[in-house]
Amino acid sequence: MGEYTLSVNGKNLKVNGPAEESLLSVLRNRLDLTGTKYGCGEGQCGACTVLLNGHAARSCMTDVSVAAGAKIVTIEGLEQDGKLSPVQQAFLEEGAFQCGYCTSGMIMSATSLLAEQHEPTHEQIVAGMDGNVCRCGTYPRIVQAVKLASRLAAQEAKR
Ligand code: FES
Ligand code: FES
Repeated sequence: MGEYTLSVNGKNLKVNGPAEESLLSVLRNRLDLTGTKYGCGEGQCGACTVLLNGHAARSCMTDVSVAAGAKIVTIEGLEQDGKLSPVQQAFLEEGAFQCGYCTSGMIMSATSLLAEQHEPTHEQIVAGMDGNVCRCGTYPRIVQAVKLASRLAAQEAKR
């Protein structure tokens, strides 16, 4: 047991609990940030993806004690002042979801990918999103959405 201070979406939040509790459990059950989803619980599906210091991480496989001290961003933290992020906007415009269960993890992985590669090729997108599973099979639209997000981010950067 211990007390941990987590930096989540720009806010410092104190949490009491076991050191080995997963970040996913803390986000969903203690901090009420339920946009991050529980899929497999084994690091295999990507539904639980968040950003840790800007990089995509599986929150189901990350102990809260490890996440303490890192800058954590969840799907709830992407929108700024009522404006969707380029990746969120692109997923919406491309209709890149069906049931939506995988979507927050997809968006977080795409956000991480585009932070590292501003204009990824088709192959780089497929490889970069490879660890995220969509049971509804919306992969073609997801790839289209990542391409659109890249263009939207480039437009935003020029403003
Ligand atoms: S729930 Fe974390 S990878 Fe599936
Ligand atoms: S939209 Fe249903 S799992 Fe991806």
